[in-house]
Amino acid sequence: MFDSGVGGLTVLRTLIQRLPHEHTVYLGDTARVPYGTRSGEVVTRYALLSARHLASYGIKLLVVACNTVSAHSLHALADALPIPVVGVIEPGAQAAAARTRGGTIAVLGTPATVASGAYQAALQRLAPLASVVARACPLFVPLAEDGWTDGEVPRLVAEKYLLELRRIGVDTAVLGCTHYPLLARTIADVLGPRVAIVDSADATAEAVASLMASREMLRPPGAAPRHRTLCTDVPDRFRAVAERFLGRPVGMVELVDLQP
Ligand code: DGL
Repeated sequence: MFDSGVGGLTVLRTLIQRLPHEHTVYLGDTARVPYGTRSGEVVTRYALLSARHLASYGIKLLVVACNTVSAHSLHALADALPIPVVGVIEPGAQAAAARTRGGTIAVLGTPATVASGAYQAALQRLAPLASVVARACPLFVPLAEDGWTDGEVPRLVAEKYLLELRRIGVDTAVLGCTHYPLLARTIADVLGPRVAIVDSADATAEAVASLMASREMLRPPGAAPRHRTLCTDVPDRFRAVAERFLGRPVGMVELVDLQP
């Protein structure tokens, strides 16, 4: 599994709970984060570096835990690797389509994810009766990285981004960025109690589990699984933030260099 940084650990946490016998290797590309403010071309170039590096570990499946990469680069990754590649957008859109009451679905994501139109297209296909609005919330990423998830500052930022959506009266909001689940409480407070908040992590873990079961790829219970954590810069900071994202201690974080 990889992400631009620590955000994808919210997906890893759910995946390990859902598939407790699998070995995992997680790569956070902390040397190049954030991806969400870059062009699709650059995001795909970075994503291919991470995917090729992970392929050298003999992985049997790749989870793209980053919404921005899932939005722009899923086809390029699937073409480049001989293994199944699962992104977060289709499962997230399916979960939102199941929750909407046919009103308006809000997609919250990075500027690159919103600009790609990937969630909007998936939702129009899966929930044709619903309307879709999308809102880029770029400041949520540094707030989550720095642990500013509650209190006055994130509340003010969330109000700037979201009060208009509350006025429109959306019925469902998809957290279309790995970092946003950490601000879920603040986002829910601002949007109001009648809005269903959808996090794609659960839906993605479910999609991975059923794909692996259908292809008979699941590891039987046995010796304890290994969980490796890699990053491309400042491993000490990565470990500290990762522990907050995962909600448990992270062992050694290995520093890797992604070669073109
Ligand atoms: N992981 C990114 C995403 O889910 C958010 C952080 C970034 O911009 O790199 O879109």
